Amino acid sequence: MSGPFYVTTPIYYVNSVPHLGTFYTTVVADALSRYHRARAGRDGSGAETFFLTGLDEHGQRIERLAKDKGIPPQQFCDDVATKFQAMWQRASITNDDFIRTTQPRHRASVEQMWGRIAASGDLYTADYEGLYCDGCEEWKTDDDVVVEGDVKICPTHRRPVDKVKEKNHFFRLSAYQQRLLDFYAAHPDFVRPESRLNEVISFVSGGLRDLSVSRVSVKWGLPVPSDPGHTIYVWIDALTNYVTALGGPEAVATQPRAQALWGASHHLIAKDILRFHAVYWPAMLMAAGLPPPSQIFCHGYLTVKGQKISKSLPATKVDPNTIADELGVDPLRYFVLREYTFGADGDFTYETLFQRYESDLGNDLGNLLNRTISLARKLPGSPALPAFARPVTGPRADDDATLEAAASTAVEEASAAWEDFAPSRALEATWASIRKANAYIDRTAPWKLAKEGAFADLAHVISQTCEVIRRAALLVAPAMPTAAQEILRQIGREGDAGGWPTVAFTSWPGGTLAEPKPVFPRFEPDRQQALIATWSGVGPETAPASTANAGAGKPAQDRSTDSSSAGAAKTGAAAGETPSEIAIEDFAKIDLRAAKVLAAEKVPKTEKLLKLTLDLGSEQRTVVSGIAAAYPPEQMVGKTVIYLANLKPAKIRGVVSQGMILAAGDADVLAMSALDKDVPPGTKIR
Ligand code: ME8
Ligand code: MG
Repeated sequence: MSGPFYVTTPIYYVNSVPHLGTFYTTVVADALSRYHRARAGRDGSGAETFFLTGLDEHGQRIERLAKDKGIPPQQFCDDVATKFQAMWQRASITNDDFIRTTQPRHRASVEQMWGRIAASGDLYTADYEGLYCDGCEEWKTDDDVVVEGDVKICPTHRRPVDKVKEKNHFFRLSAYQQRLLDFYAAHPDFVRPESRLNEVISFVSGGLRDLSVSRVSVKWGLPVPSDPGHTIYVWIDALTNYVTALGGPEAVATQPRAQALWGASHHLIAKDILRFHAVYWPAMLMAAGLPPPSQIFCHGYLTVKGQKISKSLPATKVDPNTIADELGVDPLRYFVLREYTFGADGDFTYETLFQRYESDLGNDLGNLLNRTISLARKLPGSPALPAFARPVTGPRADDDATLEAAASTAVEEASAAWEDFAPSRALEATWASIRKANAYIDRTAPWKLAKEGAFADLAHVISQTCEVIRRAALLVAPAMPTAAQEILRQIGREGDAGGWPTVAFTSWPGGTLAEPKPVFPRFEPDRQQALIATWSGVGPETAPASTANAGAGKPAQDRSTDSSSAGAAKTGAAAGETPSEIAIEDFAKIDLRAAKVLAAEKVPKTEKLLKLTLDLGSEQRTVVSGIAAAYPPEQMVGKTVIYLANLKPAKIRGVVSQGMILAAGDADVLAMSALDKDVPPGTKIR
């Protein structure tokens, strides 16, 4: 059942680098694409698979980040784009196109889209006053924010929202309520899983407000064609990417290839951006006279200890590159596809990663390949293993029937599962046949056959097993393309790569086997523990006392100076003055926070003093700091500093200073303390 297939990931914001969450969506899209290409090849349909990913590069947030780095926004985007492309290349992602919203083709496409929406009469201008979170790139109502003191805070980004008043272009979304509800009713598969469609329906049923779709204050964006002082709302810009890659709105309206692919379009997203895709996007397309996409598949969040993996929460950092350095990228791809039900949330732990690696990959698949090839090499004529004309009767008939039935079922179920966007089920079905093949070997005991010199029977068992391995390699290829290729190489069937097996079982077609070589080398428990410790940031150097003790039995006093990471005591003038020990309870009294400098100015009539306004997430603080000789005010703005928040306030030159910021050295060599990654203002330091 193969027709054209168009699959997209969200275009990721360039405020982040790839992490396990974005890796997940992209790997699912890649695996689906690989399945559809293989399937179309087997069926000979010639149907096109088109897989799109890319980057969302406009918006105030990017403008600010580039400014903080002192580089032009385009350069900032280019740098991040390089990182994403390197990650996807490493992860064997076979996207057919890579869209970036700063590309000229996209600007042309968004201008067309805007023109078509304007032609519908559903764009108008009006005054707008509201709350805006530039983290979400979204207007907020009073219901969307939490009030702390007298500040309104975005609950997602833990930052104050901006109060903005401006003349805006509006999209008359309210006029689309009934059309959307009718559309959902007519297309019950438009959003999957069904529970997500129900959420969408209940949101739309509650009534839709018109959408402000331009901003005056945002410069880093696409200008409104008729009103160049405004830039187009980032979500109109971003969503349009999906049609840009097909040639733009006109192409989707008129060209056969674009129409066919658009009619087979599947947007993979997580639930954070469901409303944009399932409500705003189809309404925009309706206004533009284009059909909505054919399906939105909304998956859950990957979490660490229950917290959504995201760049802004460093504690949830799981780096695909670091894991791939040790395990290879295929096992990580396999893990995310097999472990999580596509659609549901799932918690990530390194322990389960290793468990699946050892059991599914090492013991089941790896072992099957390894033992089969080792036994095959005992056959006369090895390493050639000629085609096998399988007898349907004889002493092996029952074992063969069980093995072959499992292999057929695997193809049938895996195909159905991939068609149904269920990678985990597809792999589970494949593993059922891999386990059956291991059981077949256990029962037929080919090592005995080899010893007895029963070579005809041995060739039978090995040929049957090799055929199951060949089929399994094709079935696992969407998940593990490189490992699949290596397995095919070892059984002498490299040329089969990219194919898809038939449901009906066929006999081993013959091949020359290679030397057996473990595809999934083992990790001893000690090594696993050490890697887990390093990856979770409790590596040997910061491990608790029990590990440190193992070293040299140094007196406690020594150890405490050794582990003082501040460095100042060792290198500075105060080396001899290590202060007396404190208990952890004493340290807990100190409230250290990451704080972002919003404004800085010289305190009048002083040389050294700066008055700083700090963003603490939930509030702002004023601090007077003696750093002006080393840091001119303009260098401080935008910096994230370490801030002692609960120091008793003091009046300095008439200004009340609430706390202090930390720095090392004195006027000549003053170094500001900083954090080596971005964290939200207010994050506690301990
Ligand atoms: O929202 N678990 O970009 P974004 C699972 N630019 N998936 C996750 C995840 C997690 N913990 N974290 C991120 C944007 N993702 C917009 C999209 S589209 C027209 C514009 C994945 O960089 C998931 O697919 O914030 C989620 O929807 C997406 O990254 C958000 O990426
Ligand atoms: Mg996001």
